[in-house]
Amino acid sequence: MSLPKKLLNEFDEVLIDRGYNSRSKGIRDALKDYIVRYQWMKDMGGDRLGIVAVIYEHHYPEVMEDITDIQHKYRDQINASMHLHLSEKNCLEVIIVKGDVSAIRNLTEKIMSLKGVENVKLTTTSSTKNN
Ligand code: NI
Repeated sequence: MSLPKKLLNEFDEVLIDRGYNSRSKGIRDALKDYIVRYQWMKDMGGDRLGIVAVIYEHHYPEVMEDITDIQHKYRDQINASMHLHLSEKNCLEVIIVKGDVSAIRNLTEKIMSLKGVENVKLTTTSSTKNN
């Protein structure tokens, strides 16, 4: 396993901030968090309303085209999107989604796995009137 030095440094800073004195424990906890988050996404069912927030490096080859292609593919679930130029390097794309959660999950995971994408956060709520 190899990790970029910058990522590892940032991770170590977080560990210090949180009072961890073992990097191994930090890595174990981070992996568990990743798995729990995956299971949370996997277990959702029905129609949901949500927001996908994506931070990405816009200079990274093809990443903008890929994100756009994915959004065109899932246009039935996408109600709106907003683009913010965060810094010289980074963009934030906020995508409002509504509909079948399995499609929302697929679109989120497709964006997540793109190179050049630094962070993806999906938050959802029930989209029915009764809840
Ligand atoms: Ni931008």
